[in-house]
Amino acid sequence: MKKYINEKFPHFLHGGDYNPEQWINTKEIWDEDMRLMNLANCNEMTVGIFSWATIEPEEGVFDFSFLDEIIDKVYAAGGRVILATPSGARPRWLAEKYPEVLRVTEMGEKKKYGGRHNHCYTSPVYREKVRIINTKLAERYGKHPAVIAWHLSNEYGGVCYCPLCEAAFKKFVAKRYHNDINELNTQWWSTFWSHNYRSFDDVEFPSPLGEKSIHGLTLDFKRFTSYQTTDFMKSEIAAIKAVCPDLPVTTNMMGFYDTINYWEMGEELDIASWDSYPQWHSPNHETQIISTALCHDFYRSLKGRSYLLMESAPGLVNWHEYNKLKRPGVDRVNGLMAIAHGSDSVQYFQWRKSRGSSEKFHGAVVDHEGTENTRVFNEVKKTGATLKAIDEICGTGVVSRVAIVYDWENRWALQDAQGFQRREKKYTDTLRTYYKKLWSRGISVDITNLHRDLSKYDLVIAPMQYMVDEESISNIEAYVRNGGIFYTTYMLGMVNENDLCYLGGFPAKNLKDVFGIWNEEIDTLYPGETVKIVGADGKEYSAVDNCELIHARGAKVLAEYASEFYAGRPALTVNEYGKGKAYYQAFRDDGSVWADILDTLVSTLGLEEAIPTPLPNMVTAHIREDGENRYLFVENYSGTEISGLSLGKEWKDMESGEISNKVDLKDFDIKIFKNLL
Ligand code: GLA
Ligand code: ZN
Repeated sequence: MKKYINEKFPHFLHGGDYNPEQWINTKEIWDEDMRLMNLANCNEMTVGIFSWATIEPEEGVFDFSFLDEIIDKVYAAGGRVILATPSGARPRWLAEKYPEVLRVTEMGEKKKYGGRHNHCYTSPVYREKVRIINTKLAERYGKHPAVIAWHLSNEYGGVCYCPLCEAAFKKFVAKRYHNDINELNTQWWSTFWSHNYRSFDDVEFPSPLGEKSIHGLTLDFKRFTSYQTTDFMKSEIAAIKAVCPDLPVTTNMMGFYDTINYWEMGEELDIASWDSYPQWHSPNHETQIISTALCHDFYRSLKGRSYLLMESAPGLVNWHEYNKLKRPGVDRVNGLMAIAHGSDSVQYFQWRKSRGSSEKFHGAVVDHEGTENTRVFNEVKKTGATLKAIDEICGTGVVSRVAIVYDWENRWALQDAQGFQRREKKYTDTLRTYYKKLWSRGISVDITNLHRDLSKYDLVIAPMQYMVDEESISNIEAYVRNGGIFYTTYMLGMVNENDLCYLGGFPAKNLKDVFGIWNEEIDTLYPGETVKIVGADGKEYSAVDNCELIHARGAKVLAEYASEFYAGRPALTVNEYGKGKAYYQAFRDDGSVWADILDTLVSTLGLEEAIPTPLPNMVTAHIREDGENRYLFVENYSGTEISGLSLGKEWKDMESGEISNKVDLKDFDIKIFKNLL
């Protein structure tokens, strides 16, 4: 069954951020934009993102004429609109009259007016002003046939340390600890250094001038910031849904942005979307590609359905350290890679390059030159042509039997943990190591967390799951008992949800039985050092960074340390528990051990590889399907041309119409196939 972003427009969206208010005095450009939109094979414009000062130039004085005109124009030209709420940047009058909307820094300095994404999410005034304008937008455009979705604000983010936020933080903490200061003192372990709290009034923000050593506090502060940002977003949604409950809402998120737990934010959205800006052609090419693919899988997994690539850069960005042009063909690959992972759009920042200010050299579909006669315009046009040719894929899904756990709270706790490698624990990097082996085989992966239903997966991978609460422990236990395969690593289950160490041995509680091990100590190596590991079959591996000294207590030992004073002790184990299996990898490596285990799991579990033949390095394949048809995407990021790669069976190339069981791909090329009926 297909599921569309909006049933009224069952097509891939191709378009992006459009700021016609910047061209309000040269309206002939608006008409030219409509002509160019069609010429570029585009069908969508995201408008209103930074329009607040144009639509409410003075407090309570509204002028929607520009939006009226532009939305009608887009529709008349055959396009659709994603309409933004303008809260990403505020007009000057709002900051002048109500200084409480201005953010305060960690050092207590109040910000001046300027910039964007810098308002206090707690401020009742800000919330009220946003409610008013959102309501007006919803009333005016909620039923307009052009408008197919809401784009809430823009890239919510940042932290505010103002008194309003601090008061809200005290309440947040009091609620979390049931108004019981003793509970807080226990969970925050505040007797350490005599930092006991006498009442919730004593709770202050973490500060470089004050308290930073209480990890329960620093963790709860991160939780609070995420919660408060999401709560602000919820207030935006409430205003809109009160008027038009049926139009889907989304907000443009940013990869694995640190400050917001996107699992929490995603709960409130109808559709997930994100802004993807990989550094193409950079010295860390592989990491860039794999990270981007991982994020795409996260955004699909967030709502368990197709999502939107809300922003990407036509040609280049302006904010990387080195702003290299995307080479010919790469704009197309950038967009289609998203489609391969389950996106129903390819959208850009920005449609028309702004003439002044800080983004005047950021890539755009239409350059300062102003016509269709540019290389980038034609790259975009080609992407659009492909999207038209494969439009029937829109609304289809992705099926995964494998999931990787990504957990913001765990990441936050690891960041603060003093120990191991103190500064960089490499949580996200480590996930990528595991992900890469699956990606390289064309095995579809969902991203999940330990509070979600794991039972639909045959294999769950949760590296460095340092923090586990009771619910996660029972979820893991039940998953394995009922037949799941769970693969985890060093640092599993050391602390509870408030960053208190579990007593009685790691990993926490009955995870020791599930994994059949006890982790007694952890060794941290200096950069460049390695420890030898030998598998039961004599194969050698190298550990880096972290080596745990574990005891097998029922688990079968698959590999042992072969150097250091812990030579001979278990390094990789597997435990049969209930109907399932629990793997424990006690050390960090480059993924070689996992690759070998995966080899076995692919055959024992019968995991599907999109193409059932070994793929060259940095070549991958993905499948989208809807129960009736299957679509295969084959992608080449290898740096060389690939010819005659076997597809395992015959497929139909959706662009050329050719039927073949092989494919040739240039470097940075994607081909899309449909199954034969
Ligand atoms: C972000 C923002 C856009 C723009 C782009 C530039 O994603 O949402 O407004 O600034 O970056 O890459
Ligand atoms: Zn604030």
